[in-house]
Amino acid sequence: MEVIIRPNADAGCVLGAKVIAKLVREKPDAVLGLATGRTPLRLYQELIRMHRDEGLDFRHVTTFNLDEYVGLPATHDQSYRYFMRENLFNHINIDQSRTHVPDGTAPDLHAECRAYEKRIVAAGGIDLQLLGLGRNGHIGFNEPSGSLYSRTWIKILSEQTLRDNSDVFGSLAAMPRHAITMGIGTILEARRCLLLAFGPAKTRAVERMIEGPLAAICPASALQLHPRATVIVDESSASGLQYADHYRWIDANKLAWQRYD
Ligand code: GLP
Repeated sequence: MEVIIRPNADAGCVLGAKVIAKLVREKPDAVLGLATGRTPLRLYQELIRMHRDEGLDFRHVTTFNLDEYVGLPATHDQSYRYFMRENLFNHINIDQSRTHVPDGTAPDLHAECRAYEKRIVAAGGIDLQLLGLGRNGHIGFNEPSGSLYSRTWIKILSEQTLRDNSDVFGSLAAMPRHAITMGIGTILEARRCLLLAFGPAKTRAVERMIEGPLAAICPASALQLHPRATVIVDESSASGLQYADHYRWIDANKLAWQRYD
């Protein structure tokens, strides 16, 4: 796992955007796996800026989002489809027909899960999967104790996740309790993973993901198995890491081609 510590979330997101922009410039028809939540917002703003000011071209890019709440139509302002339109797709030159988010209102949710996997395969697989990190160590909506081999499926959200995400819904009762999410097995098949985690609320999860045992109780620890996983953290989310100096040493001694900035 490549661990990069930046002074703050802003610097981490700008670096994350550079990783994605480099890929899109090298491979204009790249397949990006995207994430929602508060964490990647600044990264999306930076991609929008690069599109506007530097001509970063998304015309041939395909995207697959990690997850979607069950029961929320694309028009619902808390659906992840809505989030992606508002925070990225409407502001870049992406062909919206190439953007994929699981359909949480599909009449047959199991069929939707299987079809989502097939769509990823048909697109040639995901070149880079962007990820955030739940406070309980979840990635996508893969909650603790789920299989590390799981595929896209319907998951029950944990109480902690409901509490963490309920503010935007107004109340806990208004929140869906189920979501469709890519599985850990699906995520691990991406050719590259890029996870961002910032702030003191993520300190413990970051520590468990990077330095804890590989364990289903911390789903993000599965990234330890990935041949090309990059984790960008800030000083506060990295404050529990025992080997922080080692990660800084590696970062400081990278060869030119191994750097993103
Ligand atoms: C949500 C999403 C995840 C996200 C995580 C962290 O529940 N399903 O994809 O990474 O929780 O969210 P945030 O970035 O708002 O802290």
